[in-house]
Amino acid sequence: MALVESTNTKFLYSESEAEPKITQLFGDSKEFDPEPWLGRCDLVFVDGSHAYSYVVSDTQKALAMVKPGGLVLWHDYRGPRRIKGVWKALNELADRLDLKHVKDTSLIVWRRPA
Ligand SMILES: C[S@@+](CC[C@H](N)C(=O)[O-])C[C@H]1O[C@@H](n2cnc3c(N)ncnc32)[C@H](O)[C@@H]1O
Repeated sequence: MALVESTNTKFLYSESEAEPKITQLFGDSKEFDPEPWLGRCDLVFVDGSHAYSYVVSDTQKALAMVKPGGLVLWHDYRGPRRIKGVWKALNELADRLDLKHVKDTSLIVWRRPA
């Protein structure tokens, strides 16, 4: 369904030398099974749905997928009035993980201890 609704048929990497190394997956991120990537990713970028339950779900998967010493980045930490779901989910996560705000950006970063 996501592919059918997508307005994009070309991407920044299309026809670049990186293209053969990229596998693009379309679908609802709550349906995404992270199992093949558990503890294997150098970097996981969370920038999908802004709805609270999705940010929580995407975050749980990202934290499980990143390898020791790897990074998880979240986009759109912009404040409670602008993007409430991201704001709430990351403020809750900050109670148990050492999250850092990248100055002058809407990025949050966490490095999994090596
Ligand atoms: C804020 S944009 C980020 C775009 C992307 N980071 C980029 O630079 O092209 C959010 C993206 O997440 C997708 N998205 C929204 N809800 C989603 C969901 N439940 N599952 C998977 N992707 C979703 C949207 O279609 C959109 O492409």
